[in-house]
Amino acid sequence: MKIAGSAQRSAWTGKWGFIFATAASAIGLGNLWRFPYLAAKYGGGAFLLVYIILVVTFGYALMMAESALGRKTGLSTIGAFSSFGKKYAIIGILASVVPFIITPYYCLIGAWVTKYMVSYLTEPASVIADPTYFSSFILQNNETFLWLLLFILLVVLVIALGVQKGIERVSKVLVIALFVLAIVITGYSLTLPGAMDGLAYFLIPDFSKFSLNLVVAAMGQMFFSLSLAMGIMVTYGSYFKKSEDLEQSVRYIEVFDTLIAFLAGTMIIPAAFAVSGSADAVSAKAGPSLMFGALPQVFQNLGAAGNVIGFIFFALVFAAALTSAISLFEACVSIIADAFHVTRRRAIVAVTIIIGALGVLVDAGYNGLLNVDLMYSLFGIGNYGDDQLLDFFDFISNTILMPIVSLLTCLFVGYVIKPKTIIDEVEQSSEFKGKKLFVVMTKYIAPVFVVTILVSYVLNTMGIISL
Ligand code: TRP
Repeated sequence: MKIAGSAQRSAWTGKWGFIFATAASAIGLGNLWRFPYLAAKYGGGAFLLVYIILVVTFGYALMMAESALGRKTGLSTIGAFSSFGKKYAIIGILASVVPFIITPYYCLIGAWVTKYMVSYLTEPASVIADPTYFSSFILQNNETFLWLLLFILLVVLVIALGVQKGIERVSKVLVIALFVLAIVITGYSLTLPGAMDGLAYFLIPDFSKFSLNLVVAAMGQMFFSLSLAMGIMVTYGSYFKKSEDLEQSVRYIEVFDTLIAFLAGTMIIPAAFAVSGSADAVSAKAGPSLMFGALPQVFQNLGAAGNVIGFIFFALVFAAALTSAISLFEACVSIIADAFHVTRRRAIVAVTIIIGALGVLVDAGYNGLLNVDLMYSLFGIGNYGDDQLLDFFDFISNTILMPIVSLLTCLFVGYVIKPKTIIDEVEQSSEFKGKKLFVVMTKYIAPVFVVTILVSYVLNTMGIISL
């Protein structure tokens, strides 16, 4: 789908066009890579429960607000907000910063996935399953840079050639294939010794695991996975027809997105248990590398078929990552093109340089080339063990910027344009069933929730309170 520079605003072909296109963009590394490691890190079932509650309340209200705002104004983020008054452009501007922070590390993870996909063609599954395989790969700067540049090049190529449409069409099939394969792999994953403990850990909430950091992480993940609080949904909503049921579409997108994240969890967390043994060991070790350490164990267990399944799996993750990276990159391109009034071609060059440079920076962070502790102390926030620059970028966007954008959006809807503006827009096509929830969420619960979380988070990291 083409967002930037399109002369006329093309409408999605029907409700399912919107649902599939939005789901295909929403489903990506957030579901497959990020969700499982956060769930593993923050106590399994308790995280899952908080996450689901947030998706159906806060996430639902925000997605309704953003997409209705887009459909009403027919504009993308900055324009949509400023059409109600120049000063509100700031919300759109803040939201627009987010894709520039996310895309570099998103592409880096995409690069790791590409590497693993190719590895399953060239090396035996047992070699890839070796615990040192990932850690030695990540320290090979030359090699990781090369994969990163290759991945970015692929993204730019698709955008420059303008062949997104074809890619998006294929991605629908890929999402379904991913779904089927995830179920198969989950089945195998559960046969590993110790896997059942992992399943129990993921599914049964242990309320002693409940913590402030868990809620913060679940909230950030909800924004990331549903592509909220970064202006994307406003733009997508602007392509949505006035006659189609917006609320039902939002529900479907939430269900698909959460289902894939859930499957990724049942696939990866039991496998991680099979490798590490206890819940404490898993949660202590869980980080961005979780998927790359745990899944090769499952594939190795499949014997000769391991290479085939490993390859197909990483190829599907690669496809999901590529389509999301394309949308993210495209979002950056349209922001630059609109903000600086430059041609698309120039914007593409600029974004390639920005994302490439930041991506290389994040990558370099893994080889101790950059002192992450310094970065952390510079911003006055705590370092959590062996976090990397990647975690830092992730932190700035998901824990700081997105909550602020979501807060401003709720206040804007709740008190400036009033919930009625959104409700009227939604009801142009169908009854707004969750109207009451929507009003209460945007006016009261979500703002109070975000402020409470942010303030206690800051006080907690500064050591003034301890939660
Ligand atoms: N939601 C996507 C995922 O889960 C990531 C993402 C964030 C995204 N913002 C986006 C994808 C914008 C496309 C467009 O992986």
